[in-house]
Amino acid sequence: MQFNTQLIHGGNSEDPATGAVSTPIYRSSTFHQHTLGDNPKWEYARTGNPTRASLEKLIAELEHGVAGFAFSSGSAAIHATFSLFSQGDHFVVGSDVYGGTFRLITKVLKRFGFEFTVVDMQDLDAVEKAIQGNTVAVYFETPTNPLLQIADIKAIAGIAKKHGIKTIVDNTFATPYNQQPLTLGADIVVHSATKYLGGHSDVVAGLAVTSDEEIAEELAFLQNSIGSTLGPDDSWLLQRGIKTLGARMRVHQENATAVVNFLENDPRIAKIYYPGLPDFPGHDIAAKQMRNFGAMISFELQEGLDAKKFVESLQLIDLAESLGGIESLIEVPAVMTHGSIPREIRLKNGIKDELIRLSVGIEDPQDIIDDLEQALNQLD
Ligand SMILES: Cc1ncc(COP(=O)(O)O)c(C=O)c1O
Repeated sequence: MQFNTQLIHGGNSEDPATGAVSTPIYRSSTFHQHTLGDNPKWEYARTGNPTRASLEKLIAELEHGVAGFAFSSGSAAIHATFSLFSQGDHFVVGSDVYGGTFRLITKVLKRFGFEFTVVDMQDLDAVEKAIQGNTVAVYFETPTNPLLQIADIKAIAGIAKKHGIKTIVDNTFATPYNQQPLTLGADIVVHSATKYLGGHSDVVAGLAVTSDEEIAEELAFLQNSIGSTLGPDDSWLLQRGIKTLGARMRVHQENATAVVNFLENDPRIAKIYYPGLPDFPGHDIAAKQMRNFGAMISFELQEGLDAKKFVESLQLIDLAESLGGIESLIEVPAVMTHGSIPREIRLKNGIKDELIRLSVGIEDPQDIIDDLEQALNQLD
């Protein structure tokens, strides 16, 4: 089955109990047991729920894993994934990760005795050099949030395997439509499904998928023990969103190309970060490991132009956190999504105060461009 067909017919394409083509929302928190101690398939909804299970089967297939797990947010999925490891374990973490992930690592996990070295994942030598005796995993995003940096998944997973450690990839920006890290050697993929997978800015959810049976068993244990599971209503909504991922991504990306063309030709734009640009560092790796380049674009205005005035002047594009929705969303990472990273670290990692991140929606592209142009005109 090809990917776009799998989105619709993969997983449980019909409800085994009723034949419903859309898996019903099973709201029951518990399930009747006919025989005492018989270990039934469904017993308690934190442990397993048929609606959530249907979503988990689908994402496991889409990412080519052995099992998928749905959580109440992307952050919960990342937290459960780090919970696979123990006090004293060391991780190599990409320098450009979502601000909330950075906060989880530095403000929460460090309290439990986890150690981290932050590394530019574009530099393979630096990745290998950062691995030490107690390193258990490398963790990174590609493309990254918000600088769209590209890491070579196959090369990094190769280094990790050589050192007997795991590779964990946050695949939120690319989605399995564009990139399937497990097929490139990663052990675990995590998602903020709140973004492209949900696709309509109406659900907060997280997913984790692994290619390893042992990790799968442990993740099931952790999901049940920590309990940050996704409820049946949100599981249903997310599965419905995933069915149109391919159709949405094609339009998102077509629009992103049109927007990049516009930005490239506007003298008020100083720099564009987009992996689809042939001279963008990492373009060749992205072209090799991704189907297309996604629809996230970051850019900087010429020095002296007021980024605040620009984003506040937009009339169609929403000034809002999040990304991957059908509506175009814009934000200033230094103030919004990455505000939890101390300024000196942000600047060191290349996130300037004026950097603007745009999630290109699926509106008519000319309307998106017209809005950007009228907001830029306010700066003249
Ligand atoms: C790349 C990435 N990973 C993880 C997260 C966290 O996901 P959630 O907001 O669903 O907890 C986000 C949120 O913006 C993100 O952009």
